[in-house]
Amino acid sequence: MRSVSKYFDGGDTVANYKLDMEVDDGEFVVFLGPSGCGKTTALRMIAGLEDPSDGEIYFDDDRVDGMPPADRNVAMVFQNYALYPHMTVRENIEYPLKVRGVPPEERDERVAQVAELLHIEDQMDSDPGEISGGQRQRTSLARAIVREPSVFLLDEPLSNLDAKLRLEMRSELKRIQNELGITTVYVTHNQEEAMSMGDKIVVLNDGTIRQVAEPEELYERPRTTWVAKFIGSPPMNLFEGENRGGTVHLAEGNTLPTPAESSSSTVSVGVRPEDIDVSTDAPDTDWTLPGTVKTVEPLGEYVLVNVEVGGSVVNVKVPHTDATAGDAVHLTFDPADAYLYDENGELVA
Ligand SMILES: Nc1ncnc2c1ncn2[C@@H]1O[C@H](COP(=O)(O)OP(=O)(O)OP(=O)(O)O)[C@@H](O)[C@H]1O
Ligand SMILES: [Mg+2]
Repeated sequence: MRSVSKYFDGGDTVANYKLDMEVDDGEFVVFLGPSGCGKTTALRMIAGLEDPSDGEIYFDDDRVDGMPPADRNVAMVFQNYALYPHMTVRENIEYPLKVRGVPPEERDERVAQVAELLHIEDQMDSDPGEISGGQRQRTSLARAIVREPSVFLLDEPLSNLDAKLRLEMRSELKRIQNELGITTVYVTHNQEEAMSMGDKIVVLNDGTIRQVAEPEELYERPRTTWVAKFIGSPPMNLFEGENRGGTVHLAEGNTLPTPAESSSSTVSVGVRPEDIDVSTDAPDTDWTLPGTVKTVEPLGEYVLVNVEVGGSVVNVKVPHTDATAGDAVHLTFDPADAYLYDENGELVA
């Protein structure tokens, strides 16, 4: 996509603004962002269901914007995958091949192959009404895959499934995409899904790209405070304050060491919940953030402690704690684990 924008309502609604990005051959790219950020619109422009208001879209060296969807050889699967109710699973999968005039023998072969790939061989003679949600989703994926498209476009295809099935389908989809090596763009607002499936994640907000990065890099180096506040569960804690001589002075009088040098007078220090320690005794350090425990949530794998520090809530993840609600505690962290953002919310270090 080269500087692709999409406006609706005569320009009053900006769904996408100057999107610049590239998807490599065989890559699994995820569009991640909150509701209304323009994910579906971007995908629909790749599919040809929507024309860009501005900019260019290429498949390899061929410009495709303006080209009808049927000529692009893309397959799109939506959240509300609609199967033909009066056709069996087999007939549903076979349908796109029939429409394209593929001979019966080749049809049978290709349908059998995708059925095996998606593990739905045993449901082939059932009607869509007789199978589970996960099996229906597999059927709609099979119907898309059987066409052997050059690009696979998926718009929140797992959001109608229950948590367990979602998890299963997540790794299934990734496996299938790997096996077929098919270039895929996957839309979701679920960051766990994005992180676990994507080779590359495109973070969108307000129709614009905020960051393009591999999952690990996105987590390790969120480029702006916006991305920092979006990625992670719970996301990074940010402490805004005044930067004076290597110390950040927070509004409520607390001070923090700066994790890096910056000429910015207003900065934010960012610390992930898992990088903060909580103690009920005052630790022997130059500085601490004194606070009060609001809640303690034992989540099995870790304990999530919400601590009120100077009027804002800090999320802390620890393996274990003796602290309970109402306790006065001290928060500390290693400045080497912290991030520094400048007055524009851009990552300094
Ligand atoms: N056909 C349309 N006419 C007018 N506005 C539209 C149209 N399609 C999308 N929009 C607007 O464009 C913006 C982006 O919508 P889009 O559907 O791309 O968001 P999304 O990221 O897919 O959201 P969600 O996660 O809720 O599906 C929204 O403000 C939406 O209201
Ligand atoms: Mg959408």
